[in-house]
Amino acid sequence: MRGNHNDQIAKSSEANTRKKMSVGIWHCLIIFLSLFYPTTGLKSQGSIVEDMAIKHVLIPIVMEAEATPFVKHLGLKPVAAFFPSNTPFLAFSGEHHNTKVTVITLGKDKVYGTGVDNVGTVSASLATYLALSKLEGDVDLVMNAGTCGGFKRKGAGIGDVFLTTGVANHDRRIPIPGFDTYGTGKLATVDSSKMASKLGYKTGVCTTGNSLDWVEKDDDLMKENDASVKDMEAAAIAWTCAMSEIPYLGVKVVTDIVDGGIATQEEFMANLASAAESLQKALPLVLDYVCDETREEL
Ligand code: ADE
Repeated sequence: MRGNHNDQIAKSSEANTRKKMSVGIWHCLIIFLSLFYPTTGLKSQGSIVEDMAIKHVLIPIVMEAEATPFVKHLGLKPVAAFFPSNTPFLAFSGEHHNTKVTVITLGKDKVYGTGVDNVGTVSASLATYLALSKLEGDVDLVMNAGTCGGFKRKGAGIGDVFLTTGVANHDRRIPIPGFDTYGTGKLATVDSSKMASKLGYKTGVCTTGNSLDWVEKDDDLMKENDASVKDMEAAAIAWTCAMSEIPYLGVKVVTDIVDGGIATQEEFMANLASAAESLQKALPLVLDYVCDETREEL
């Protein structure tokens, strides 16, 4: 009896040791993956898009001046009461070949009484969320189009079109383990490399912050993010898409060179109109590419 009891204790302690070791191995694996994952970026969204036909594209374009030439070019029509009446956002819809297209813009500011465009992450994520909710699961791809600053050190020039490979934030500094990674908020976007080489565009990470200009600390973080371009909305819109598992692609035209020595606001204002024209040309080509059902992969 006693011998049996001792055997049982020995067996159970062996089993416990094995269990602890296997839990330990899993813990190590999870810690290793969680350390490694954010620095290498997330799984590319390319495969998600490859597997399905794209029937409806939602295109958030922040500024009216950026959106108008494209909306006119495609003959899109304003959609009344698309957004709740207490929001400033606007929607336009129509078709391009066989694909439904909904463009949203962020409208003009009434809250602060300035009448300028509602730029930045807060309005961008709210408008995108409301649009996705209104369209009730009917959206296959979000294509966020607009202007951006470009980095000379990454080969950007004025007027270049960039397709995103990823997004991240450069002004959310939270130096506490876990929160630091949350703050940077790195997300992979649709794999745009084949599309870019086919269409003659550049690719890279878009880094987002709520300021048009930047300070030294931003630049350290923009370098850490390996950014090719800089904007004020991409990471927020991509975050909203990620919550609903909808693929995100950024299509960005360079209006100013961030590391070029000219004041951003001057260069931006000088190049805004030509960049909007360039977007109007680029967007239908990108749309044609992603909506082409004869294409085998993105
Ligand atoms: N949009 C156009 N240029 C920009 C810049 N330099 N920073 C942020 N958003 C922009």
